[in-house]
Amino acid sequence: MKILSLSLLAAALAVPAAAQDAAQVKRGFELYKQKNCQMCHQLGGQGNRTGTAHDGVGARLEPEEIRQWLVDPRAMAQKTGSTKKPPMIPYKHLPKADLDALVAYLSSLK
Ligand code: HEC
Repeated sequence: MKILSLSLLAAALAVPAAAQDAAQVKRGFELYKQKNCQMCHQLGGQGNRTGTAHDGVGARLEPEEIRQWLVDPRAMAQKTGSTKKPPMIPYKHLPKADLDALVAYLSSLK
């Protein structure tokens, strides 16, 4: 029994980074739906066209830029000269884990 629990512990410690990333991406996908990002963004041909389509956004933007769009969209809109209305809503009130998950998910869209 002791050997079994030790090997279970070893297995848990050995969870590869990729599996953690995958869990974060999945959580980000759920948040993306929950927060209704598609009220303004298209993805896979679904959603509205107020903002840019998110297909391939992970190839266009660095994770840090995606995070900035979420926490300080006004500054990002100024920087990129975006005049789209209604503008992107700030999501800086979200828990860091949720922001991390959304960034991981969007970065995975390549
Ligand atoms: C009220 C409408 C609205 C909502 C809701 C919204 N956005 Fe946006 N978003 C925008 C607009 C407008 C832009 C600026 C796009 C531009 O000018 O290219 C933008 C830009 C972005 C960008 C940069 C896109 C790019 O291609 O450069 C990301 C990433 C983003 N939004 C993520 C999200 C996420 C994630 C959510 C949900 C948590 C969300 N947005 C909800 C309107 C919205």
